[in-house]
Amino acid sequence: MQQFPNIMNPEDKENWVKAGKIAAEIREWSKTLIKSGAKLLDIANAIENKIREKGAIPAFPVNLSLNEIAAHYTPILNDPHVLSDQILKVDIGVCYEGAIGDTAYTVDLSGKNARLVEASQAALANVMKILKVGVTLGNIGTIVEETITSYGFQPIRNLSGHGIALYQIHTSPSIPNYNTNEKIALQKGMIIAIEPFATTGEGRIKESGEIVIYEEVSHKPIRSSIARQVIRDIENFQHVPFARRWLDEKYGVNKVSLALQQLRMNGNVQGHAPLVEISNEPVSQAEHTFLIDEEVICLTKYYY
Ligand code: CO
Repeated sequence: MQQFPNIMNPEDKENWVKAGKIAAEIREWSKTLIKSGAKLLDIANAIENKIREKGAIPAFPVNLSLNEIAAHYTPILNDPHVLSDQILKVDIGVCYEGAIGDTAYTVDLSGKNARLVEASQAALANVMKILKVGVTLGNIGTIVEETITSYGFQPIRNLSGHGIALYQIHTSPSIPNYNTNEKIALQKGMIIAIEPFATTGEGRIKESGEIVIYEEVSHKPIRSSIARQVIRDIENFQHVPFARRWLDEKYGVNKVSLALQQLRMNGNVQGHAPLVEISNEPVSQAEHTFLIDEEVICLTKYYY
């Protein structure tokens, strides 16, 4: 049987349960922040501060992706976006002792995309009904695709769910959002995030726009003193993806632009550009993290 990195060590189970529970609590609480007139920057700061108050760290900067942006947008310093009539995806990652809870929801403020929101939620709910040891990746993708197309929409085929391991938000296997016919089966002990995306567009994304999320990929030495200063902060983020906003707050935008450019060229960091639906059509998302055990546990379910 193929070895996957996302098999949980049973000793860590309590931490995985706790990370998931914090993520679920914050997700539910964060819904009160999403209203017309709210600034994306205030929402991001509130959510990330709440994660830290609970004794955890953001597993990645909170993703607040509007309209045709499917994922990988987080506010910048002095971010201009204010909520009015958009469709907003809120994707929250909580890292507790390395264990990660990854969960997302969508709010439609336009009043026009309620069914689009429902489609990704229904796809996630339908997958939850069949999750167990032995279910194949092809089975999961088929259910996501059939549910979303039954609403008259398309799943986003080049975005997928994923395995999760300690301090690693994305590991194999990737969990498809359409029928790939993959025969790889879920194994006991796997931690996986299922995240269907639905769109009124074609159902593919491309990278587009300014990079606002980065990740450290190598510790190799670098000469530049500003780059060396900044990389010390990056290491304090505990090797999970970070927002350039977190650095801008401390060093200012110009210094950070220079440092990140040097760090990228030296191969220390890599950027994750916003992911935009290719036909510029609105996107919805729903996500939970699961432990595939004899009995499957939805780690980011709302518990109380
Ligand atoms: Co995820």
